[in-house]
Amino acid sequence: MRKVFLYSLLAILGIILLSFTNTHKPGKKHIKASKQRSGDASRGYDYLVNGDYVSSGIPWEFYKVFAPNDSNNFLQRKGEASLIPPQFNFTVNEDGIEMLSPNCLNCHSDYLNGEYIVGLGNHSFDYRMDPQAAGQFMQTMITNKYGLDSKEFEAFQAFSASMKALSGHLTTEARGLNPADKLTAVLIAHRHPETLEWTDSLLLEIPDKTIPTDVPPWWLLKKKNAMFYTGIGRGDFSKFLMASSILTLRDTSQAAEIDKHFPDVLAWINDLEPPKYPEDIDYDLAVTGKSIFNKKCSGCHGTYGPDGEYPNYLVELEKIGTDPALSKAYTDSLYISFINWYNKSWFVQGENPGQLVIESGYVAPPLDGIWASAPYLHNGSVPDIASLLDSEKRPRYWKRSFDSRDYNFEKLGWQYEAFEAPEDCNCYNTDLEAYGNQGHRFGDPLSVGDRKAVIEYLKTL
Ligand code: HEC
Ligand code: HEC
Repeated sequence: MRKVFLYSLLAILGIILLSFTNTHKPGKKHIKASKQRSGDASRGYDYLVNGDYVSSGIPWEFYKVFAPNDSNNFLQRKGEASLIPPQFNFTVNEDGIEMLSPNCLNCHSDYLNGEYIVGLGNHSFDYRMDPQAAGQFMQTMITNKYGLDSKEFEAFQAFSASMKALSGHLTTEARGLNPADKLTAVLIAHRHPETLEWTDSLLLEIPDKTIPTDVPPWWLLKKKNAMFYTGIGRGDFSKFLMASSILTLRDTSQAAEIDKHFPDVLAWINDLEPPKYPEDIDYDLAVTGKSIFNKKCSGCHGTYGPDGEYPNYLVELEKIGTDPALSKAYTDSLYISFINWYNKSWFVQGENPGQLVIESGYVAPPLDGIWASAPYLHNGSVPDIASLLDSEKRPRYWKRSFDSRDYNFEKLGWQYEAFEAPEDCNCYNTDLEAYGNQGHRFGDPLSVGDRKAVIEYLKTL
């Protein structure tokens, strides 16, 4: 009897001891790869810039009266498409109406040092103003010109209904940030999860808050096992890419048709390379920087070069310490009804489901072409890498010119002006919820010289 008691006591002690050694230390978690459909990159590019994945828009005949031709033809498109801005596709619907339909490049292209780059996140669009007035103006003009029973009016309706639903929801507090997560939430709230059909009434309650983000560059996706800053996008990536079509989608049969093309778009995105650093690099210093980087940074961000390995880590909030609002929107209750919508929707059905996996933290991104994608962190709160790696130097209130040539090649990022107070500075205010520039202090312990070397190395990636 005494023995049994002794053994039980030992067992209990053992469990207590074990639970102590198992106390959770904040850390990082490897994200596993999921199977992707294969596709044809050149067909993907054609679909991206000419396809009708957004199937409603502004009638071409109407548009060209008001807007001059875009003479750049950056995308080297043919026919009428060569005359329109790159953020639209030239499409024709089943009634033969020619339209301008917004495309992915609205958010996934921008200028850098005066050059237009497809796949760079749009870091300069200004969502501080609501586009409601413009939408209403167009609706009135199109109704006056063509009448309520016209095919032109009909062609504009799905786009117009979405614009109306979105008005008042997309405003951000700083220029350059993107409200795409909120945009998706609003559109979802108007769609039936199984049929994907639109209803003017709201099926879900839309949160008041808008948590804006920077837009990640497309050339990183090929290394990633999960999409989005929070790593929630798992399973079939093409399903997430084609989800942008919910702006104007009619129903699931149209969704299935659009979905067929997106493995091609994914293949094109996966072929994309970052722009090369355009100035001189001190390669001796960069070699020193590489060895520092491989000791202090590569555990999360991976190694580079021919034998480079990217570890695909989601870093827990407690460890990374950057602004928690975006991650918490998924793990806490803010977006819960949207996650539930998704998990019973068309997007998770069939052979190639997209999967939402909700875990706390942020993905440690690959740093290829990192010089090109300023500002930094998921909320674009830090203007340059020099201050990202020396947290006391991060400006609390700052503003940049939004001239893409205003680049600081020494600090690797945007030139900016810092302010003492947020009042009337009309700038990025890092005191605001979701706009914080805290955390990621892994560069702080480095000496000034070591930091300079690491920056030199980052130019080579
Ligand atoms: C209204 C702006 C907007 C539009 C339009 C848009 N995106 Fe995005 N996209 C974003 C934002 C913002 C993110 C980052 C969101 C996040 O991680 O929380 C993103 C993320 C992505 C990612 C994930 C990148 C990564 O590394 O995790 C891919 C790939 C992508 N978008 C492709 C597309 C494609 C293809 C289209 C068109 C079919 C498209 N997007 C349309 C704003 C947009
Ligand atoms: C513990 C893991 C970890 C370590 C160590 C680490 N990082 Fe990071 N890093 C991250 C995560 C996670 C993010 C994204 C955080 C966010 O956006 O909120 C990030 C973001 C960045 C970014 C900005 C990326 C962008 O596109 O905005 C740069 C640049 C960067 N890290 C460089 C470094 C350098 C240089 C070091 C070494 C001195 C380092 N990191 C050490 C996890 C880490």
